[in-house]
Amino acid sequence: MTDTKKQKAKTPEHVAIIMDGNGRWATKRGLPRSMGHRKGAEVVEKITKAAKELGIKFLTLYAFSTENWKRPDEEVSTLMGLLRDYLKKDLEEIQKNNVRIRFIGEMNMLDKDIVESIKRIEANTAKNDAMTLCIAISYGSRQEILAAVKKTVALVKRGDISENEIDEKTFSDMLYTNDMPDPDLVIRTSGEQRISNYLLWQIAYAEFSFTDVHWPDFDENKLKEIIENYASRERRYGKA
Ligand code: FPP
Repeated sequence: MTDTKKQKAKTPEHVAIIMDGNGRWATKRGLPRSMGHRKGAEVVEKITKAAKELGIKFLTLYAFSTENWKRPDEEVSTLMGLLRDYLKKDLEEIQKNNVRIRFIGEMNMLDKDIVESIKRIEANTAKNDAMTLCIAISYGSRQEILAAVKKTVALVKRGDISENEIDEKTFSDMLYTNDMPDPDLVIRTSGEQRISNYLLWQIAYAEFSFTDVHWPDFDENKLKEIIENYASRERRYGKA
């Protein structure tokens, strides 16, 4: 690789976060895990605002993975309840902040009322352009990639595209994230250093930041510190 490929990173255009540690945060305080998730949902709103103020254009949050369906029923209901509350909230604040909201994941696994609310909020915020908040819900990257492979095969079978036309761009267009740039930076809270089936195709050239802070304690200052650290890095690929 030549030095010309090295570029100084600036504010990341797209930040993807794995919001981990809600359970440990609650347990440490002798509270039920649901309290950790509740506090975590409050942090979602604070961090969305802070990201917009920092000039981040796309923020993707891992709110519920396909694996999370295996958690105890009570915990799944708590998380779905928090999502319902979030979706029912007055849109006024989101509209005032000019934030577009979109969702990625296996929507057919969700209750009908949640899917309807998701469609409504996506439609109502579609024209907002200060920042896109993407919420990954019932999301699994391997499943997303397999679905994209199946869509591609169907297009080839129908003769809409030829096998030779399949490239990184046409394949990216088959993913849930087809209208977003790839993440520049992935943040995981709570000390674990793994990717957990998150945006595997999209993070090919991303930078990583792992922090010991549990998600309910994550705040604007921590986000700012991570973004400043990112800005000082030299990226070899990807955007400046
Ligand atoms: C991981 O912590 C976190 C989750 C599985 C859920 C994240 C959800 C929220 C922050 C709230 C809901 C979001 C919205 C958009 C309303 P964990 O429970 O795995 O923590 P642990 O590893 O300490 O047990």
